[in-house]
Amino acid sequence: MNRPWLDPQLPEPERIQLLLGTMTLREKVGQMHQIANVTSTSQDEELRAGGIGSSLFASGAWAGNQQDAGVRVEGLNAVQRIAVEESPLGIPLIFARDVIHGFRTVFPIPLGQAAAWDPESVGRAAEIAALEAAAAGLHWTFTPMLDIARDPRWGRIAEGSGEDPHLGSILATAAVRGYQGDDLRDEGRIAACAKHYIGYGAAEGGRDYNSTQIGPRTLRDVYLPPFAAAVRAGVATVMASFNEIDGIPVTGSHELIRDLLKGELGFDGFVVSDWGAVGELIAHGFAADAAEAVRKSVEAGIDMDMVSGLYDRHLAAEVEAGRVDAALVDDAVRRILRIKFRLGLFERPYTDPGGGGRIGAIPARREPGIGTMPFPGRDRVSRPTNVQQTPPAGMTQPISIPESHRARARRLATRSLVLLKNTDSVLPLRTPKRILLTGAFARARTELFGTWTLDGQESDVTTIEEALRAALPAEVKLETKLFPDEAVVYGRYADAIIACIGEHPIRSGEANSTGTIDLPPGQLEALKGLRAYGVPLIVVVFAGRPLALPWLADHADAILYAWHPGVEGAGAVVDVLLGNESPSGRLPVSFPRRTGQIPIYYNHRPTGRPVEGGLRGGNRYCDGPDTPLYPFGFGLGYTTFEYSDLRLSSASMRTDGEIEIRATLRNSGAVAGEEVAQLYVRDLAASVSRPVKELKGFARIALAPGESGEVTFRLLATDLAFSRLDGSVGVEPGGFRCWIGPDATRGIEGGFDVPG
Ligand code: NOJ
Repeated sequence: MNRPWLDPQLPEPERIQLLLGTMTLREKVGQMHQIANVTSTSQDEELRAGGIGSSLFASGAWAGNQQDAGVRVEGLNAVQRIAVEESPLGIPLIFARDVIHGFRTVFPIPLGQAAAWDPESVGRAAEIAALEAAAAGLHWTFTPMLDIARDPRWGRIAEGSGEDPHLGSILATAAVRGYQGDDLRDEGRIAACAKHYIGYGAAEGGRDYNSTQIGPRTLRDVYLPPFAAAVRAGVATVMASFNEIDGIPVTGSHELIRDLLKGELGFDGFVVSDWGAVGELIAHGFAADAAEAVRKSVEAGIDMDMVSGLYDRHLAAEVEAGRVDAALVDDAVRRILRIKFRLGLFERPYTDPGGGGRIGAIPARREPGIGTMPFPGRDRVSRPTNVQQTPPAGMTQPISIPESHRARARRLATRSLVLLKNTDSVLPLRTPKRILLTGAFARARTELFGTWTLDGQESDVTTIEEALRAALPAEVKLETKLFPDEAVVYGRYADAIIACIGEHPIRSGEANSTGTIDLPPGQLEALKGLRAYGVPLIVVVFAGRPLALPWLADHADAILYAWHPGVEGAGAVVDVLLGNESPSGRLPVSFPRRTGQIPIYYNHRPTGRPVEGGLRGGNRYCDGPDTPLYPFGFGLGYTTFEYSDLRLSSASMRTDGEIEIRATLRNSGAVAGEEVAQLYVRDLAASVSRPVKELKGFARIALAPGESGEVTFRLLATDLAFSRLDGSVGVEPGGFRCWIGPDATRGIEGGFDVPG
């Protein structure tokens, strides 16, 4: 058959049109049909008929909290061969998998990554994840998760960047660029997926999949920005979210998908539903039956149906009966083909099992032991050290993680650690003779990974105990006691106690919301027992969410928040405990004192009776403090920084202008350290009430003891834009305050005007 669309010289729109013009309705619907775990034997007939557009490989791993069998390049190639060589049009499948925070090299959970306030490292992590995933035959990952989350009960807070739209947008851009690079055809690049569009993090009560109430302005000003940033960064795909907003499930929302995302934001890739969400329109009470669910999803703009199978079953009939406009199907298929062309799948549909990347033809079987080169060259990656070794049967992953990948994981893990308390500079540890190590995480391996790590390997992980032993001088006695009662017995004789506590990854992530954010059962009791002797108590908390730590804040000597830090987490924690690294992570989300304060977030709108005014009966609790235990942006280091001399390049900014805001920072402590300086702004009066503070910039600055440096932020008028009373987006004239400081509650202050 003549296949003119295979000519790579033709412009992309022409190639798409040529192919689309040749396709039958069944073949078009096939492109919109994604199944789970395709194999060349079970789905061969469907593949031959061009009836499948994509497969994902994740269903063996229940909601991301179980390992599965992994993907095999040979298996994927066998599937692809049927689609490419035996179907009438030879359209390749796009293979997807949840590679959420690393593939074999497991990086910190995304919330931990956000705590690093380090877009460069986040981008590099995505780049490495893409490289490893592409080598395993994948083309597409369902990352980054861009849901703003203001409720730590929601288990999926672990998968996102926290509560702030600005930080979320910067990291969204970094991640999309990291996965996709400049050109999806380039070796080691895969398509990213901005998810879950939109409002999923606002689930009522923090219960996963729950309904949401989000006002139109909050939707645009808080929940939309990271998605808008991802679209600007060229994200190839977007996943619609499970939730409904004020009665309309996103999967069926024409307004949110077709009008806002594809229309206003100009997104030209394709939208995939979430798992089974097309069928769930029936459970939502938004569609009476499967055919109506299909109609509403297609009309809304869901281009690909993830695994419900309903497009496959009903869409062609709906089009033939005139109930769905054929032009909508063409639009969806055009979008899907666009991404397949951009990935270069028509030229190189297969993956080299020997690590040569995407290739045009399946190579003849290699002899074992020859040429295993899982990661292609280029200076952004190093070649694995084990090129002569052959992976065990059924595994396409290399024997070990390349050192350069480990180094990036270590750097990001180190920067993700947030020191919340450090009484009398108990950390870094200074020459203890006897250390008691306790807590469930002391010997944890895969538990350090966190939720959604389908491809991490236990054998790659060092435990905290091992890392500590390796780093401590031989004369220091390290005793690990996991039983709390035994630990209490030994605690009496120690010079320092390190308690590695927190929550198991199964307690966060998808479908793992909690009704309380207290420490899981039993741990507080054990800590109280350890506190009894007055021995310095250093607590390292591993968790997928902010936990409420009021007792620790009062009684522990030090608290280091480690999230789930990934494959290099133990080394990173030990580096900080021993002072080889100074902690520099900052909270990407407010830490409540107790569950009842939720939702509590720094960028709330003002009330008429603010707590700060001291008004009796203001919007306060009468049974406890109103403030968070630790605010957004907070984190200590081993040194201190003084902020001074706030300077603005001008006291006024035009509505289309910009100003520069600077401050001087001085390392006023005795050791070198890195500070994350943060710029906040408040719009004092506008046509609608504006948040009390909004993050508009941040910068890491490293200073030696006594050294001073300057941070400069460029603030554009467009950074001050918001959804105004009339629904338009823009800046309004008036007065503004600004702060440069170490967190959302402190800083040196200035102000400027935007004249009318
Ligand atoms: C459901 C989850 O909500 C989504 O984040 C994930 O990518 C898909 N399942 C595929 O595994």
